[in-house]
Amino acid sequence: MQTFSTGMTVGQLMMEHPECTPILHAHQISATGALGLTLGQACAAKNVDAASLLSKLVASASEPGGVPTTDLRRMTDLELIEHVLTVHHTFLRRALPWLQHVSGRVVELHGERDARLMELDSALSELADWLRKHMQEEEEALFPMLLQGRLRTDILRRELRAVRHEHAEVTGFIRRLRECSDDYTAPHWADSVHKEFLAELEVLEQDILRHMFVENQVLLPRFVADLG
Ligand SMILES: [Fe+2]
Ligand SMILES: [Fe+2]
Repeated sequence: MQTFSTGMTVGQLMMEHPECTPILHAHQISATGALGLTLGQACAAKNVDAASLLSKLVASASEPGGVPTTDLRRMTDLELIEHVLTVHHTFLRRALPWLQHVSGRVVELHGERDARLMELDSALSELADWLRKHMQEEEEALFPMLLQGRLRTDILRRELRAVRHEHAEVTGFIRRLRECSDDYTAPHWADSVHKEFLAELEVLEQDILRHMFVENQVLLPRFVADLG
């Protein structure tokens, strides 16, 4: 049985129990903005009943399957970077083309009924472009630079601050996706394609938040402990 308490920080919880991340995200508690808060504080800020959330977290941690609970902190730098590439970058390269294709189909089918579907399609397209460029820069420049380990600390600090600053931009994209989709809620008239699209958008958000969390909180601090 896992032990959880409202005194744990959200960051500690996500690090030690990654299987709980989807439940936190479902309650709007995410790696963007709540990491340093205790679970109790994050619940109060989002008007979430802490006792009921705690029982869901305990239940999820006791379930077999789900998100693998690999302890990323025990990995070498190379293993951790390979984990980011094989889990998160690979997921995005598979998910984004499919999501963009289905988004276009949903616009064709229902765009006249709900103009926000076109806004959602544009927001997804901008996010996809941003993610592809960001991943390419990491794969071609950042990760090789980290593995070579030859940069002066002041230059490394500047580079890593820039990466973390770039990660913060993703929050704006996710906010737009949520605004255009009523937090991924299907309208009463939605068909199965539309419902699946919204469900998969939410999976995309969860993966992106976990991806940014791993890079910001596990990978980058290995190279510069205090990025300020
Ligand atoms: Fe990445
Ligand atoms: Fe990144």
